[in-house]
Amino acid sequence: MDEIQALFGRIAPVYDPLNDALSLGLHHVWKRMAVQWVAPPVGSIVLDLCCGTGDLAHLLAQAVGAQGQVYGVDFARPMLAQAQRRYPAPQITWVEGDVLALPFADGSCQGVTMGYGFRNVRDRRRCLQEIYRVLQPGYRAALLDFHRPADPLIQSFQRAYLETLVVPLARGFGLGPDYAYIWESLQRFPTGPEQVALAKTLGFHAVHYPLMGGLMGVLVLTRPAD
Ligand SMILES: C[S@@+](CC[C@H](N)C(=O)[O-])C[C@H]1O[C@@H](n2cnc3c(N)ncnc32)[C@H](O)[C@@H]1O
Repeated sequence: MDEIQALFGRIAPVYDPLNDALSLGLHHVWKRMAVQWVAPPVGSIVLDLCCGTGDLAHLLAQAVGAQGQVYGVDFARPMLAQAQRRYPAPQITWVEGDVLALPFADGSCQGVTMGYGFRNVRDRRRCLQEIYRVLQPGYRAALLDFHRPADPLIQSFQRAYLETLVVPLARGFGLGPDYAYIWESLQRFPTGPEQVALAKTLGFHAVHYPLMGGLMGVLVLTRPAD
């Protein structure tokens, strides 16, 4: 099993309470913003990639309404089990799969979200290529994730927050090393402008919006209309 897949399988039972505690519930606000950036039409087909426990899929389902169709894709079965339990909506289908090889036809959806997944995938170029392929021309994707702020002061705050609050709290659940991984993965994660440059090489129109002084960010991608 993939190391990342195993990690998220382990943390699935405590993922939501920890997320709420560590972000003071703010991740719900950022997720709502991501869905607003995608702005999927009512009745459309949309994907939530790396859906985890399903928050974004649930928000997408509200946006597309009862006539729409949402697919939440994740490769960690324990995450999908939580998602199914939390959001048993008829228009959401939970799909166990790898976002680097999506089981969807070219141009088959009108919106894509990805929350805290882009930092974790093994091959970011491949991930963007897959999003480009499945998006119908003229529609958008929003990728929400942590970000490395440009300001050194905010960077120090972020490091202190992760090392003195997040990791010790996670340690209380026996998951200290798993949460120490956030800081490590962030060091390898491209900055907003680097993400935009990569997306443009694949044909997207791309903008990166920093949130919370650059502690978080949303990469908004549009596949240009033909
Ligand atoms: C930090 S969680 C985010 C969950 C949810 N999107 C949220 O924002 O709360 C990252 C998720 O990405 C999934 N993931 C990472 N790489 C993946 C891949 N290549 N294919 C499918 N899922 C993947 C993990 O299993 C995990 O559930």
